[in-house]
Amino acid sequence: MPSSPSDDARPPGTARRVKVQRRGPMLVEGPVEVELEDGTTVFSDRFQVALCTCRRSRRFPWCDTSHRARTPGPGGDEPAAKD
Ligand code: FES
Repeated sequence: MPSSPSDDARPPGTARRVKVQRRGPMLVEGPVEVELEDGTTVFSDRFQVALCTCRRSRRFPWCDTSHRARTPGPGGDEPAAKD
């Protein structure tokens, strides 16, 4: 049976925060160790880490902002203007 967040007995303020965005990377409070599909691990000791969710990063699993060129604009499927 999967656990729910309310099953976690950690004291308030001690849980690692993950920020999920509709478009763009997943922001995770660091340091983090990420296990990749092939079983290798990568590590970052940054205060906050941007994990790529679009799979277009050349530095996967880290976001390199490649998602910006392919993000649909606010009104539909057209690409957003580049920065
Ligand atoms: S989410 Fe930024 S490059 Fe993939």
